[in-house]
Amino acid sequence: MLNRRNFARLAGAAIIALSTALPSFAQDPIVIKFSHVVASDTPKGKGAEKFKELAEQYTDGKVRVEVYPNSQLYKDKEELEALQLGAVQMLAPSLAKFGPLGVQQFELFDLPMLFNGREDLRKITEGDVGRELLDMLEPKGITGLAYWDNGFKIMSANSPLVTPDDFLGLKMRIQSSKILEAQMQALGAVPQVMAFSEVYQALQTGVVDGTENPPSNMYTQRMNEVQSHATLSQHGYLGYAVIVNKAFWDGLPADVREGLDRAMTEATEYANGIAEDENDRALQAMMDAGTTEFHELTEEERAEWYETLRPVHEEMADRIGADLLQKVYDALGTTN
Ligand code: LMR
Repeated sequence: MLNRRNFARLAGAAIIALSTALPSFAQDPIVIKFSHVVASDTPKGKGAEKFKELAEQYTDGKVRVEVYPNSQLYKDKEELEALQLGAVQMLAPSLAKFGPLGVQQFELFDLPMLFNGREDLRKITEGDVGRELLDMLEPKGITGLAYWDNGFKIMSANSPLVTPDDFLGLKMRIQSSKILEAQMQALGAVPQVMAFSEVYQALQTGVVDGTENPPSNMYTQRMNEVQSHATLSQHGYLGYAVIVNKAFWDGLPADVREGLDRAMTEATEYANGIAEDENDRALQAMMDAGTTEFHELTEEERAEWYETLRPVHEEMADRIGADLLQKVYDALGTTN
């Protein structure tokens, strides 16, 4: 019999049932886990935070972006596997780290002495070659959304690195790129692939002697505290492709995708707009810290580096594909 007490109990239960059911139908946000390996206070770290802010705003809270910096969730190689498995939805790996995915053409960005500054770089990232590379990710279950800048690399060690001879026999940490391996070998060094999260300790304990990175990465990982010398060689570039799990991305409601596309476009402008300054600031901070002696290459020294490093292009042309490499040269207006 439905007396007043029973009615109140039933009504209460119905309210609880409704209130627990509602969020999963109407209010639960779509979660995007964005994992990366660098500090929050870097061009990539700040770009990720900007994307979070804009994505949540432009989707009216239908999306929540959780940013996991500093290899908190996954290290380099693991994060790519996690993306393919759907354990995370978004990453921005360095362009040097796509080889293990089977898209080694991205390693063209690692070719030493290729770009003459950021304007050159844009001709690739914003041109046909950049698009072509992102399209190569689709069969891997990955969608490429954008290119984010970091900067041009400097070389560091615990001994001066003025001429190529100074690298002879040094163990140099590299990212997982065959082109970077060839680059270090051309210098007479012994390349050692290692996850980013392990570099500081490897430098500190002498497992490796030196490394290469843009100043922002070097400074935010405190590598300058364990490297007595660095050379402002700017011999190569380090940047990122922002990528998402394709099944996840394709399955998003159209209005949500639209908001996220807009957020990505603006976050990309932001990240690429701050990268140079962030690196300049990091370099200045390391100079002020005084633990590392920085060397600027003279014109003659740079010519010597060029002579030693440029042949890596020809040596590694097959890895990139001769046609693709020619497209790069054509876009840059270089002759070889
Ligand atoms: C490195 O491993 O040196 C870089 O790729 C780290 C990063 O993501 O900038």
